[in-house]
Amino acid sequence: MHGRFEDSVAFVTGAASGIGAAVTDALLRAGARVVGADLHQEGLAQFADYGDAFRGHVADVTRESDIVAGVEAALDTFGTLDMAFNVAGVSRGAPIVDLEEDLWDFTVDRVLKGVYLSTKHEARAMRATGRGGAIVNMSSLNAHVPMHTGAAYSSAKAGVEMFTKNAALELARDGIRVNAVLPGLIDTPLTQRRLVNKPLMDTWLERIPQGRPGRPEEVAAACLFLAGPEATYITGTSLVVDGGWEITGYPDLRRFA
Ligand SMILES: NC(=O)c1ccc[n+]([C@@H]2O[C@H](COP(=O)([O-])OP(=O)(O)OC[C@H]3O[C@@H](n4cnc5c(N)ncnc54)[C@H](O)[C@@H]3O)[C@@H](O)[C@H]2O)c1
Repeated sequence: MHGRFEDSVAFVTGAASGIGAAVTDALLRAGARVVGADLHQEGLAQFADYGDAFRGHVADVTRESDIVAGVEAALDTFGTLDMAFNVAGVSRGAPIVDLEEDLWDFTVDRVLKGVYLSTKHEARAMRATGRGGAIVNMSSLNAHVPMHTGAAYSSAKAGVEMFTKNAALELARDGIRVNAVLPGLIDTPLTQRRLVNKPLMDTWLERIPQGRPGRPEEVAAACLFLAGPEATYITGTSLVVDGGWEITGYPDLRRFA
């Protein structure tokens, strides 16, 4: 396999589905060797055709020991770690006045704590290699634009964006770049239930200037750009990938709650 990442080793969380799977596939196509981590082993089997270039690792990103083991798997299997993509996440919501503490914790742990734990151990490994590296964290348009029932998710994604800037600040002198990607509406299993709700889709599409949801591959391309050799002077920034949605803002979704 030849490509622009043929000498690179990557760690991807949320690799079994949607955007994380698209990032993993794009990396493997570009010649990288990849450890893909996810809760769901069966979803990781989709990369079996890449043979020894891919290793699946069952992990919960909210458990520090799982992240440590995943990063070690990359070092043990492929000898180094150059890039990391922290994509795992969930989206469940409720109006603030009905938002149970458990649901708040569930969301914030998976969205924000998972990125913190992942970045911590990825950066340690990259620092130890002495070769630096690049980390891309998955935030969301909702870091900038609130949505009804999305208080926990939007707050956690805004946290991911600021955490990314903080990590970029602390890690720059180690040669480690850290950036965030903020997707708008992307066609993945996470959004499937909403994408087939025609009145909801029509309401969304009125606000998306390009008039369609994005594809996971379009977000993966932004992630690989930020991690790759074209972005060597880019760190601590946020790349919005939303078909122009941020320009118009979020619609009032209360009637769909
Ligand atoms: N799809 C969108 O419209 C959209 C928009 C903005 C941001 N995002 C973000 O992109 C990321 C990927 O979303 P997606 O749409 O591909 O969703 P998805 O549901 O298709 O994939 C998410 C993956 O993360 C994994 N995961 C969830 N919790 C985990 C945990 N605790 N430990 C390990 N793995 C875990 C799931 O098993 C799944 O494979 C998420 O962080 C999401 O918030 C998605």
